[in-house]
Amino acid sequence: MPESIPLVFASMNPGKRAEIAALLPGPFRLATPEEFAWTGELPETGRTLEDNALQKARFLYERSGLGSFADDSGLEVDALGGAPGVDSAHYAGPQRNASDNIRLLLGQLKGNSTRTARFKTVIAWVDASGSARTFEGVVEGRILEVPRGHHGFGYDPVFVPADSERSFAEMSSEEKNAMSHRARAFKAFWAFLHP
Ligand code: IMP
Repeated sequence: MPESIPLVFASMNPGKRAEIAALLPGPFRLATPEEFAWTGELPETGRTLEDNALQKARFLYERSGLGSFADDSGLEVDALGGAPGVDSAHYAGPQRNASDNIRLLLGQLKGNSTRTARFKTVIAWVDASGSARTFEGVVEGRILEVPRGHHGFGYDPVFVPADSERSFAEMSSEEKNAMSHRARAFKAFWAFLHP
């Protein structure tokens, strides 16, 4: 059997790594930062999703010399000029608490009828020669006034995708994954890696 090709996924989140490992196409296998003696947080000091994804992927490429990729996602709310965006995880503070983040967001939008928003994922890929490119996935939608549903994570209870009546948190993971920003970005990345 031909040997599999290792790609480094620059993520320290074991749940996300398991999900992505199961989706990897064809001849590839996922290598982890720990295999290259990295167990800390990954650097994420950029001011855009693209900067952060590139920073994480380059960091692992420089340690491993292998093709490396990273993703970074966030929620962009039009009435807030694109916030929380790159600050989505820690919008309400360093405790990174989803309920606190939602409470802050709904407070800021109180009385505002402009509710349009989008989730965005950027994947950065640094190949074995060090060249970089990025892939994007977007899902447009709107922010509810009151959270609904208990599935998912993060802002799912307040986000309703366009053409749906239900929030992401009211959908099964299969339903959400069929349309999510992350799924769309990975689909584009897999198509590039293994056309
Ligand atoms: P990450 O880059 O995938 O870690 O996402 C950063 C933050 O964006 C998360 O901590 C969430 O607050 C938010 N976020 C990203 N994707 C989703 C999603 O699919 N549902 C809800 N919140 C999300």
